[in-house]
Amino acid sequence: MMEEMTLADLPEVLQIEEESFASHWSEKDFRFEMTENPYAKLYVLRKDGKIVAYCDIWIIFERMEVASIAVAKEYRKQGLGYQIMQFIDQKGIENGCEFAFLEVRESNLPARELYKKCGYIDLKVKRDYYQDNHEDAYEMMKGLA
Ligand SMILES: CC(C)(COP(=O)(O)OP(=O)(O)OC[C@H]1O[C@@H](n2cnc3c(N)ncnc32)[C@H](O)[C@@H]1OP(=O)(O)O)[C@@H](O)C(=O)NCCC(=O)NCCS
Repeated sequence: MMEEMTLADLPEVLQIEEESFASHWSEKDFRFEMTENPYAKLYVLRKDGKIVAYCDIWIIFERMEVASIAVAKEYRKQGLGYQIMQFIDQKGIENGCEFAFLEVRESNLPARELYKKCGYIDLKVKRDYYQDNHEDAYEMMKGLA
C-alpha cells in the first residue's frame, strides 16, 4: 500500500534515488518537493517495513505530471512499477486531472516500456533536454478517464 512520504523516510528514499539515477536528486531537492512545492505529492511503498519504491506527482489543476518514480533495484521486474502507475492514475482522477504527462530519457527503455504499458503515448521529443549528457527527452501523455 502506498503511504504519504514523510521527512523521516528520506534516508531510505535517497538510497533508492542514488541507485536509480546517474544524475539524482539531493536531500534538499526532496525537502523542497515536500515542504515548498504546493503542487507536489510524494508517496512511498513499503514491504515488510522497508521502503522499496517511491513516486512524486504534481497536481496542477487539470494536469498531472509524474515528476519521479523509482523502484529499489532488487524489487524491480515484479510488477511494482506498474502497480505504482495505477495508483498514480487513481490520484490524478481523484484530484480532477484530465491528463497525465511525463518526461523520460530516450535511453531509459524500462521506463518507456512501463509507460507504454500504462497507456502513455509519445507526444514530442525534446532535443538535447538533459544537461548532464545532452540526451533527448520523450514527453509522454495519457488521458485520465
Ligand atoms: C522504470 C521502473 C520504475 C520500472 O519498475 P518495475 O517495478 O521494474 O516495473 P514492473 O515490474 O512493474 O514492469 C512493468 C512493465 O514495465 C516494462 N519494463 C520494466 N522493466 C523493464 C526492462 N528492464 N526492460 C524492458 N521493459 C521493462 C515492461 O513493459 C513491464 O511489463 P511486463 O512485465 O509485462 O513486461 C524501474 O526500472 C526503475 O525504478 N528504474 C530506475 C528509475 C527510473 O528510471 N525511473 C523512471 C524515470 S522517468
